[in-house]
Amino acid sequence: MGREFLNIFEDWADKYDDSVGGFDPQYKDVFANYDTILKEVSKHAEGIVLEFGVGTGNLTEKLLNDGKQVLGIEPSEPMRELAVQKIPDLDIKDGDFIDFPETIEPIDSIVSSYAFHHLTDTEKAEAIEKYAEMLPKNGKIVFADTMFETENAKEKSIEAAKIKGFNDLAEDLEREYYPTIEVLESIFVANNFNVSFKQMNDFVWLVIANKR
Ligand SMILES: C[S@@+](CC[C@H](N)C(=O)[O-])C[C@H]1O[C@@H](n2cnc3c(N)ncnc32)[C@H](O)[C@@H]1O
Repeated sequence: MGREFLNIFEDWADKYDDSVGGFDPQYKDVFANYDTILKEVSKHAEGIVLEFGVGTGNLTEKLLNDGKQVLGIEPSEPMRELAVQKIPDLDIKDGDFIDFPETIEPIDSIVSSYAFHHLTDTEKAEAIEKYAEMLPKNGKIVFADTMFETENAKEKSIEAAKIKGFNDLAEDLEREYYPTIEVLESIFVANNFNVSFKQMNDFVWLVIANKR
């Protein structure tokens, strides 16, 4: 579910690692501190980790380097191929945030970077409800993604992108489902998580949720 944007990644896959390196001026600020952001996600993950939206495997690499066991889920075939080129023995499967193969091992943490916004807010709630059932007490969800403090802040960001002539970025912010912190917080709280938010750049926040 939430797979409606996959065609974007068919075209973007080969150039994705250039974008995160800051070579695309439109996305420079979105990917500012990318390496630090991924390291933070990895630092807060514990035990056996389920990662959604693996992409080219950049967060996965950090998790593995930190000694974690990772099960990866990625719906885009070109992205899966690039991830396996980078990490040949990666355990990665076709799936998405809501429909994914059942894991044999019990999961301690669920992580994702730059991907949860592909779900509508209703789908986000469905996903978090599912994770609340899967995770043990004190299990963690650690996400990094673009989100906004208010709808007004989102509108201002779209306006600023248009003024700079960053039409791809403006279109992306209008097209996909970038949430407000208030909405995300209410989803986590309703599903019995304690949750905190930390701003990492002008767009991306780190979300750390612990199951009560
Ligand atoms: C912007 S990339 C992020 C890749 C990587 N996590 C990173 O931080 O660089 C978004 C990834 O989410 C994947 N994706 C898109 N829709 C998804 C969904 N519904 N469930 C899981 N992953 C999805 C895309 O195929 C893509 O690989």
